[in-house]
Amino acid sequence: MQPLLLLLAFLLPPGAEAGKIIGGREARPHSYPYMAYLRVQGSEGRHTCGGFLVREDFVMTAAHCWGSLINVTLGAHNIQRQERTQQHISVLRAIRHPDYNPWNIQNDIMLLQLSSRIRQNAAVRPVALPQAGNGGDSGGPLVCNNVAQGIVSYGANNGTPPAVFTRILSYLPWVQRTMRRFKWEDQTETPL
Ligand SMILES: *[C@@H]1O[C@H](CO)[C@@H](O)[C@H](O)[C@H]1NC(C)=O
Repeated sequence: MQPLLLLLAFLLPPGAEAGKIIGGREARPHSYPYMAYLRVQGSEGRHTCGGFLVREDFVMTAAHCWGSLINVTLGAHNIQRQERTQQHISVLRAIRHPDYNPWNIQNDIMLLQLSSRIRQNAAVRPVALPQAGNGGDSGGPLVCNNVAQGIVSYGANNGTPPAVFTRILSYLPWVQRTMRRFKWEDQTETPL
């Protein structure tokens, strides 16, 4: 259950203090090399969010974390420090799910295309996405056998269950279409 607790601490809703470990233990440094820390300039000021690297140039997060400017830090163990392993990259495009509904927080999923590719190493590495047919209960651990299954949508601010998860498997066609559409090669939009 430790990955679940860690991700819960990272993926708090805006306004909550992300980056603080709540109800969990400090993780071994870089044991979750896909974890991303987001600094977001939103309409109501700055906030922080969590996310996770799913490709060398894409981070997945919740749509409610959207902002006009987002900076991503990868490879951090302690976000308060400057660490050799950290990579700071700005976001080129923040693509919310077209059916995201901020009123009832449905379809709370967003892809962030990074302005450059990350340098993959032991501290920074993408996590696998689920394959169709490989189920997984929503509300279960977010990362199961090193496969990302869910995104924390909302939960109690103290990190205790129940939390609501966006089940990634249900959004795979949109995720794959979006990541194909915004190819790294030219960073331009290819027609659907
Ligand atoms: C993102 O980083 C740039 C360059 O360091 C900085 O000027 C900007 O204020 C940052 N924005 C946010 C939302 O952290």
